[in-house]
Amino acid sequence: MNEQNQPSAEVVPTGTSDADAVRLDQGHIHGEGGYPEAFENPGLPPHTPRLTDIDEAAAKRAERQIAGLFTLSIIGSILFLVGYFTFGVDARNWFPGVGVMSTTHLLLGAGLALGLLGIGLGVLHWSRTLMPGEEIVESRHHLASSDEQRAELADTFVKGVEGSQINRRPLIKYSLGGALGLVSLPILVQLVGSLGPLPKDDLYVSAWSGLPDENGKRTFSAPRLVLDPENRPIKASDVTIGSVFHVQPEGLLDLHDHVLEEKGKSSVIVMRLDPGDFADNDLGRKARDWGHDGIVAYSKICTHVGCPVGLYEQTTHHLLCPCHQSTFDVTQDCKVIFGPAKRPLPQLKITVDDEGYLIAAQPFMEPVGPSFWERD
Ligand code: FES
Repeated sequence: MNEQNQPSAEVVPTGTSDADAVRLDQGHIHGEGGYPEAFENPGLPPHTPRLTDIDEAAAKRAERQIAGLFTLSIIGSILFLVGYFTFGVDARNWFPGVGVMSTTHLLLGAGLALGLLGIGLGVLHWSRTLMPGEEIVESRHHLASSDEQRAELADTFVKGVEGSQINRRPLIKYSLGGALGLVSLPILVQLVGSLGPLPKDDLYVSAWSGLPDENGKRTFSAPRLVLDPENRPIKASDVTIGSVFHVQPEGLLDLHDHVLEEKGKSSVIVMRLDPGDFADNDLGRKARDWGHDGIVAYSKICTHVGCPVGLYEQTTHHLLCPCHQSTFDVTQDCKVIFGPAKRPLPQLKITVDDEGYLIAAQPFMEPVGPSFWERD
């Protein structure tokens, strides 16, 4: 290297490490381009055989331990399935060190953990005891592999399989096969078995069809519309033009159990329009006819994915869903005029009773909430 190419303490080549920079500073570097000179490859330290490489009894012991870990995984997966199918979600018991908790959830968690842990530890132990233990150096080559290199890779793979002794040790082969086969079952069971009941029957009824009796039967009783959460019935005269009310069927807010489930399907928004504001088409006429003197009631559950539609623009008579901006035109029976919702908000037909209170004239005639595949 000539004088001009000698690195100086001020000029540090790009990519030079801190340690190199110090050595540059001290004038120790004389490699081409200012980089450290190549040094002799020290090679790998000599390979020390493991006990399992030289002692077949130790190898056998390791084999049994590995099979034991895979068996542990199998037991974990079976435990998961037993927990899933044997106990109801409400079954609770006391467990030492855990306290009172759901038996199902404990078995599901413990079973899945054992199922995965057994496989993980088994493979780890296998690689540390029986798979080839030598360090291997692979030099960098051009990215594209030649035919010889591909053949070499295939050969390495075959040798790796032979080195893992999987063909010589059927105990490992079959226990691993069993563990891998079973560990997928909990995931499948979770995916398929936990989807819950088909929504058809549930979503076609709401508390507007009547509150469920002890047998779950509902009988329509023309419930009054009560303010949520005040639980106070409203008269038609309370609803002035431009005002908005959030209501539930009378009796629902007095329930002790399943209030939220019932409210989730029964929330209704009530508005009053000037009867002349309804669109002069079939949709506008139907909306007006199902209301009372310009007062209309619609399900508040967005038909997109179920957010509460609570924003009412009284000048345009638009209802907006804050989640993804679906917009429903109240003058046209809550037809979707913008956004991802695919069907109008269901209308609740209302009228008044002898005392002038707003009541439901009939239950919802279609399911409320997001569209689903069983809908006709
Ligand atoms: S939930 Fe209403 S627009 Fe998506």
